Amino acid sequence: MDLNNEVLENPIATNIEPMIKLTFTVNEEQYEIQTSPTEKLIHILREQLNLAGTKISCGIGRCGACSVLLDGELVNACLVMAYQVNGKSITTIEGIGGVTFDEVQEAFLTEGGFQCGYCTSGMIIAVKYLLALNPTPTETDIKEALAGNLCRCTGYGGIIRSVQSLSAKNGGI
Ligand code: FES
Ligand code: FES
Repeated sequence: MDLNNEVLENPIATNIEPMIKLTFTVNEEQYEIQTSPTEKLIHILREQLNLAGTKISCGIGRCGACSVLLDGELVNACLVMAYQVNGKSITTIEGIGGVTFDEVQEAFLTEGGFQCGYCTSGMIIAVKYLLALNPTPTETDIKEALAGNLCRCTGYGGIIRSVQSLSAKNGGI
C-alpha cells in the first residue's frame, strides 16, 4: 500500500489546516489572500505575491536579510505570522525608489555599500528605518542600527560609509 497516496487522497487529511483571509497593503498596493494563519510573512511576500526582493537566509530572526517595515516598524519577515499582518501596511525593497533610485540606494551604489544580493535589501530597509528616526546618525548609531543585519563576507565598511554620506548630507558629522 502506498501510504503517501492514501494520505493525499484523504479529504479530511488535506483540509486539516484552516485557512484565513488576509487583507493588507504592500508598497501601497492592496492585497487580499487566503493563507494558513501560521504562514510566515516572508513566504507570503516571496511565494504568494512574487516579491522576491526580500531575501531569506537564516529563517530564525538572526540575519536581517528579510527586513521589511510593518506599519513603519522594522521587523524580520521570517518571524511575522500571517495572522499578524491583517489590516497592516508593509514596505519591502520593491517599495523603495522607483524609476530613479531612492537616496539610500544611490548612496549604496556610490559608496560601495551594495555588496551582495543577500544582505543588501535588508540593509537598505534597516537604513531607511534608521534615517526616519535619526537623519544624522553617528558611526556608533549606524553600527547599533545595523547590528541585526549580518554580513558574512565583505564587511561593513562600504555600508557604514554609505550611511555616513547620508548623515553628512543631512547636517551630521
Ligand atoms: S531570514 Fe529573517 S532574520 Fe534571517
Ligand atoms: S552578506 Fe552581503 S555583502 Fe556580506
